[in-house]
Order: sequence, then C-alpha cells, then structure tokens
Amino acid sequence: MTPIAVIGAGSWGTALALVLARNGSPTRLWDINESLVASLKKDRCNLAYDIPEKFPDSLEVFESLESLLADVQDVLIVVPSHVFVRVCQTIQPLLPANVRLAWATKGFAPTPPYFLDYFVGEIFSKDTPMALLCGPSFAKEVAAEQPTAINLTGNNEAFIESLLKRFVCRNFRLQRRADLVGIQLCTVTKNILAIAAGICDGLGYAANTRSAMLAKGLQETQRLILAVGGKADTILSLAGVGDTILTCTDNQSRNRRFGLALGRGGHIVQAKKDIGQAVEGYDNVKQLQEIANQHQLILPIFNGMYRYFYADLSLEKLADIFISV
Ligand SMILES: NC(=O)c1ccc[n+]([C@@H]2O[C@H](COP(=O)([O-])OP(=O)(O)OC[C@H]3O[C@@H](n4cnc5c(N)ncnc54)[C@H](O)[C@@H]3O)[C@@H](O)[C@H]2O)c1
Repeated sequence: MTPIAVIGAGSWGTALALVLARNGSPTRLWDINESLVASLKKDRCNLAYDIPEKFPDSLEVFESLESLLADVQDVLIVVPSHVFVRVCQTIQPLLPANVRLAWATKGFAPTPPYFLDYFVGEIFSKDTPMALLCGPSFAKEVAAEQPTAINLTGNNEAFIESLLKRFVCRNFRLQRRADLVGIQLCTVTKNILAIAAGICDGLGYAANTRSAMLAKGLQETQRLILAVGGKADTILSLAGVGDTILTCTDNQSRNRRFGLALGRGGHIVQAKKDIGQAVEGYDNVKQLQEIANQHQLILPIFNGMYRYFYADLSLEKLADIFISV
C-alpha cells in the first residue's frame, strides 16, 4: 500500500493516523507545531492531546512538510477549519497532479463561499478526487478503539474505495453517503446546536427544553441542506443526526462546554479562552446566517444564536426561541 500523509497531529489527526497505522497503512504524520512533533517522535504517543496509545511502527512522524509529502498521492487534512485553505495553498506546489485529497476537518472556511470542497477545487482542480470523513466521533474514544461508525463522502469512486480499504476495521466503520455538500453543512450546524444545547443546560433548563430545541434545530438543518443542493435524508445520517446527538449531549464536545459556560453566565471571550482550542460553532454562526439569508430561509434557532452573539439578544429571549412553536 502507498503511504498516506496526515496533516495536523491534534486530537483527531492523531486518532485517525492511529486507525490507519493499526490497519497496516503506511502512515505519515506531521504538524506545524514543532515542539509537538518533537514530543510525538520522542514519546511515540500524543500526550499533549491526552492520547497515550502507542504509535505502531507503521506510523512515522515527520519533521518537515517537504519530506512528509515526498512521493505521496493520498493526503488527509485534519486541521481546524480556519486554517484549512491556507494548508491547501501551502501543500499544493509540493504534490503531484494526481493527488487525492481527503479531510476530516469540520466547519466552514472563513471566506465565502465557505464550503471546503470549493477551495480544494480552486486550489487543486475541480477534478481532484476529494473525500470527507465525518460523523459521531470523539478522538479519544477512537484512539482507545471504542466502536465507532462515521460517514465517508466524496466525488471519486476509486478514492472512496481505497479509503475504505485503509480505514475500515472491526471498531472503525465508514458508511458511504453521496452528499458532499449536505454533509459539510451538517459539520457546521451540529456545532452551533451543541452551543445552544450547552446554553440550555447551563441556564438550568431540563431535558424537555433541550430536546425541543434539538428537534427544531434538526428541522432547520434539513431546510438548509436542501437549500444548498444537498439531499433531504442526509439529516438522518451519522454525520447529521448522529453527530448532532454526540456533540449536543456529551461534555467532551468543546462547543457544548462553551455553551454551558455561557449559560452559567460566563463571558464569550473568557469561555473561549478556557476551552483552549478552536470553538468552530461560534466561528461559523455568522456564515450560516449569511447562507440562510442568501436562500431567504427563516430559521429561528440559528437566527437566535446569531442575534445572541452579534445583536444583543438576551439569553432569556434566546431560551424562549428554543421552545417557541
Ligand atoms: N477532536 C475530535 O474528537 C474531532 C472529531 C471529529 C472531527 N474533528 C475535527 O477535526 C479538526 C481538527 O480538530 P482537532 O480536535 O484535532 O483539533 P486540535 O486543536 O486538537 O488540533 C489541531 C492541530 O492542527 C495543527 N495545526 C494548526 N494549523 C496547522 C497548519 N497550518 N498546518 C498543520 N497543522 C496545523 C495544530 O498545531 C494542532 O496540533 C476540526 O475541524 C474538528 O472539528 C475533531
């Protein structure tokens, strides 16, 4: 098997590299953080991100991007969404024309039209084989080989097949789904709903309120998926309802923890600082509102979150929107 290069050795990049390497794929791993790379090489595990599982011999840590990408056709990007486009621009000159590009990054790029596949098409080519892995998956659980199933979507059959061969094992399953645009949208909405769920719980509301908010949020997500050209049943997928349940109900989710802090009276800046990693849901609220406006959609939950962050809507009024019918 040819090597696959994983860019980004945070929680999720490390967990996915572990799955690949345990399955026998020659796996290369690199991160822009040089001290992180040094510790990965020394410890052969990722203590900085609380992943103590030892790297198999088939997982090699690289110190430079040039050596990482030498003679590589398949790349997996696992960096936060706000740097995704920059990473694509940096690696493009180092890769062959027949590169195949997968990503497990969730969320939007900071500039329109926000969808990551658009930028991959612009920076590489519209014909570049692309794939996205997305679904209910906390990195630490995957690293610890807890049974996990997520979606795999993309634009190229041969690339999808080869990713299935590399990844799938007893405790890590990939369900194919033909809706690259719809699934990308779900990676954004589930994080915003997780903040909303955290706010609900932080305010002291009980399960009834959170569940009503979630059901309405999923209905709004389905309307958005259809508006951007996705498929209606994508909302029922692992990446749709599956990832939304995960992120909204478990405190491993940094978006949910951010919402909890806000609901308990915390300040946005301090709450973000306390999380210490990117809170992608917060970053994406404005872009989602723009997309809703473009399609003339009225989406009370997502609009409420937008007005809470950017237009002085009080938490009390936001909570009222959560249960309004
Ligand atoms: N953590 C999870 O459980 C999980 C699960 C599924 C999906 N995701 C998604 O995966 C993406 C990454 O999340 P994470 O949890 O691994 O984040 P993280 O904060 O744990 O790690 C991100 C890593 O990316 C590196 N990085 C930043 N800029 C870079 C650049 N220009 N080049 C190379 N590396 C760079 C950072 O140094 C860091 O090590 C996010 O979009 C997230 O939503 C995370």
